[in-house]
This record gives sequence, C-alpha cells and structure tokens, in this order.
Amino acid sequence: MAILVAGGAGYIGSHMVRLLQRQNREVVVFDNFEKGHREAVAGIPFFEGDLRNKQDVKAVFEQFSIDAVMHFCAYSLVGESMERPEIYYENNVQGTLNMLTAMKDHGIRHFIFSSTAATYGEPVSVPIDEQHPTVPTNVYGETKLAVEKILDWFDTIYGNKSARLRYFNAAGADPDGDIGELHTPESHLIPLILAVALGEREHISIFGDDYDTKDGTCIRDYIHINDLASAHVLALEYIQTKNESLLCNLGNGSGYSVKEIIDVAREVTDHEIPVETVGRRPGDPAVLIAGSDKARNVLGWEPKLYDVGTIIETAWKWHSGKAREWQR
Ligand code: UFG
Repeated sequence: MAILVAGGAGYIGSHMVRLLQRQNREVVVFDNFEKGHREAVAGIPFFEGDLRNKQDVKAVFEQFSIDAVMHFCAYSLVGESMERPEIYYENNVQGTLNMLTAMKDHGIRHFIFSSTAATYGEPVSVPIDEQHPTVPTNVYGETKLAVEKILDWFDTIYGNKSARLRYFNAAGADPDGDIGELHTPESHLIPLILAVALGEREHISIFGDDYDTKDGTCIRDYIHINDLASAHVLALEYIQTKNESLLCNLGNGSGYSVKEIIDVAREVTDHEIPVETVGRRPGDPAVLIAGSDKARNVLGWEPKLYDVGTIIETAWKWHSGKAREWQR
C-alpha cells in the first residue's frame, strides 16, 4: 500500500516524497505539473492529473493501492488570491473536496492537509498557538480554513481522520542539493535574496522598515523543509494509531527579521546583497511566530535544521547549483 502525495512535484511535496522514500515507504505522486517540476519526480511512480477533474482524482485510486493521502496541491500566493479569488476556491476548496470524496468512495480514511498560518490572520498575541482566533485577512487563508472545516465534518460524519498542519514560513532545501524551491514568478524572501547573490537581481527590496519590531522589518518563523516533512510522518502515525484528528502548527517558535535574514545570507554567500527599502506589502503582519509546543509535545517532533544559517546554506546549495539546471 502506498501513500499518495498530491502535489508531490512541488516544493513541499517533493521533499515529502524524498523523506518517505528514505524511510522505504511506497509513494505515488499525483500532480498536474502546473507549478510542480517533472525533474522532481524522476524515477517515482506518478499520475498526471488535475485535482479539479473528478475523473482524474478517481482514476488515481483505481490505478494504485493507496492507504493514506498527503495533500500539497494548492495555489498559495496571497496577492493573487486577492485578485482572482474564484481560482483559489476552485482549486483549493473544490479540488480538495474532490480528493476527499474520492478517498471516501475508496474507503481511505487518513488525510494530511497542508494548512497555513494565514488561517490566523492578523495576530492578537504572539507566539501564535492553535487556540488563537482564526480570522483570515486574505482569500488564500480563507480557502485553507474552509478545508479545515470540511475535514471536521468529514470526521464527524464519516469518521475520516485528518491532520491539519498550519505552516509558518517553509524554507531551505534538501541538504543534498538535488531538489528545492523554484517558483515562477518567485515571491518568497530567501530565494529572492539568493538571486541577488547570484547576480540575477540587482538588489532585494525590503517591504517596509517602519514596523514595530526590533529593526523595523517584519519578523517570520522560518522552518526547514525537511523538518516540516518529518512532522507529516509523525502526524500520519498519530492519526492512524490514535484514530483521532489533529490540528497543529509547524514552526520553530523563533522569529527572524527581514534584515537579519539578509545579514545571514550575506555571511553564507559572501556577497554584499544590496538592499532597497520600499513601502510595506499590503496584508503583511509585523510578526508571525508559531507556538510550537503542540508539535513537540503531542507528536514528539524535534526540528533538526532549525538554525537559520543552516536553512539558508541548504537553500544556497540548491539555488547556486541544480535549480539553475532545472530552469534551463
Ligand atoms: N519580503 C521582503 N521582500 C521581498 C519578499 C518578502 O521584504 O522581496 C518580506 C515580506 O514582507 C515578509 C517576509 O519577507 O515580511 C517573508 O515574506 P515571504 O513572501 O517569503 O513569506 P510570507 O511570510 O509572506 O508568506 C508565508 C508563506 C505563504 C503564506 C504566508 C502566511 O510563504 O504561503 O506566509 O502568512 F500564505
């Protein structure tokens, strides 16, 4: 029996696949390659299909013997979600409902869901634990919260067990440098900084230095992609052995400002990385730091690559190596 990794050719999904394979688990990838990369699934069984197409989703369960699903397919750009809400509802909510319905029809009861800190909205207290109110300030966060609610009802009505994992800032790359983050267009801080170090961009824009933080720039909780993936394995074991659903933040519980990240990247890359300060990006909260006790206490999760220098080193190995081969 295999674990279906939906979105397994994307950034987070491909690291999940890599970890499962290292643990000798059988894996099947479902992806439409709209955002994902074919290079990421080389040698891995995959089904090319679209989540929004019910026939595709049904067919994957008919073709393969699956006993659990890890679901990473989604649109995830906050800005875009505020311009084209309908595609976010269609892909993130209707698409996930297609997956859950097909799972139900095939008697598959365990589901791991990529949720987000964006479900919380503007923090009223930091660190943000799982009891924090959920008032999303953008459509992206709203669609993820809508799926979380569907999952509650699928548990109540059908007894399907799920883990809803609310990610803070996923970052870094597999330390072997073979897979990593590659979005087009790129909007995330660390890959953009590294593109400056590679001479592909002239400077990094700092979106606001007048926040009420230690150096005026936004603070985020960066979690290494492999630590994120390892929490998914523990979450699956939890819902399978306890027969209980789970809601859990995934972050390290420590925050770094934009300026601090740039300084660390300067050390790692030995490049001066020029900056330009521009206005705030609409919708950016000043500080997002996870309350991470639940993942540690309930799942026994222990992040290993929590040092932000290590996170950026792994990203640098990827961006200065294989990532550029994939782009060609
Ligand atoms: N930033 C800059 N300059 C840039 C890019 C980003 O200053 O060129 C700043 C942002 O303002 C923010 C920080 O760097 O303060 C991190 O920005 P990212 O875009 O890398 O990440 P976000 O915190 O905006 O986004 C993350 C996830 C999203 C998720 C969101 C939830 O990547 O998927 O958290 O709040 F929706």
